[in-house]
Amino acid sequence: MPQAVAVLGGGIIGLSCAFEAARRGMRVTLIEPGGLGGQASGAAAGMLAPFSENTEQPDDFFQLCLNSLRLYPEWIRAVEELSGMSAEWVQSGSINVVMHEADILPIESRLRWQNEWGAAAQLIDAAQLQRLEPMLSTAAVAGVYTPGESHVYAPKLVSALESACRKLGVEMLEHAGDIEEVQAHPSGGASVRAKALDQPVHADRLVVCAGAWTGAYERWFGLTIPIHPIRGQICSFEHPANEVRHMVFSSQAYWVGKRNDRLVCGASEDVAGFETNVTERGIGRLIRSSSRLFPFLERKETMHRWAGLRPATRDGLPLIGRVEGIGPVILAAGHYRNGILLSPVTAAAVADLLEEKTSVVSLNAFAPNRFSYIEK
Ligand code: GLY
Repeated sequence: MPQAVAVLGGGIIGLSCAFEAARRGMRVTLIEPGGLGGQASGAAAGMLAPFSENTEQPDDFFQLCLNSLRLYPEWIRAVEELSGMSAEWVQSGSINVVMHEADILPIESRLRWQNEWGAAAQLIDAAQLQRLEPMLSTAAVAGVYTPGESHVYAPKLVSALESACRKLGVEMLEHAGDIEEVQAHPSGGASVRAKALDQPVHADRLVVCAGAWTGAYERWFGLTIPIHPIRGQICSFEHPANEVRHMVFSSQAYWVGKRNDRLVCGASEDVAGFETNVTERGIGRLIRSSSRLFPFLERKETMHRWAGLRPATRDGLPLIGRVEGIGPVILAAGHYRNGILLSPVTAAAVADLLEEKTSVVSLNAFAPNRFSYIEK
């Protein structure tokens, strides 16, 4: 087991990897160029929805999501117990709303395979839909009800993880500035220089969890890392009477009622480089979808509008694993829309690699070296 581990990145994945490594007894330093949980993690609606997010087939990504959901109860219990903070995990169940009769037929094959994997999902008609979600538009013709899907409040989970990490003795180097140089020696040992840090950080192993910024590490690792940012614009409405009871998905957007009297509505998927501003076009689409699906929102102003950058990969799968040929480096990035859901399984897999144990899940499909090498 390595003595010292440096985790690069303080989003949900970096914090989770730091937490897991520290609770397994490793000495961990976390380096974050900006503030903790600032990007995809901060913008996330916190949905733990492996079935709603994977409607096509039980592929490797779905299996990873499902495995992670199964780890959630112990994970949240440990984080909350150690931090003394709540991540506001709400067992709401979810509803995927169907607006056109023609869209009902494909749902049958989805239900068949998802129920084999434990979704306990059912097709509900318009009357059942109205009973479960009375504020829904009566134009909705049917829905898929998945009782086991749930959500956490991502900013609270980030704060709880941060506090749990501190209690475990993780050294948190926030606002460390740009990473200026990374040296990793094939035989072991690594060092990281960041702009605002007085001296380099040395470690036995390096875990890179830099989200949408992970592509910048290509130059140090001589590896193709096709990760790019996809902006998620999101907004919230006042929601004091809990009018929306479940997580609700339509083909255009999703809605999640939080305990702080906010109804979160997300999210755009637009290409804007590393810009994190919101646009009238992006938020306007969410507002129009909200009024169509929930008429009570028609005259409501948004309370907040914000955006984060999801780390998208070329093949849609995250990069989790050891970087072949660079002994001390492990990558855990590219989780795109599912970083909150995938945080426990990623942290467990990374900690298993650090301990040189067989991983809790098969990582073959997620190997960081699966893209071609670039010339150094
Ligand atoms: N997890 C939903 C999103 O990224 O918008």
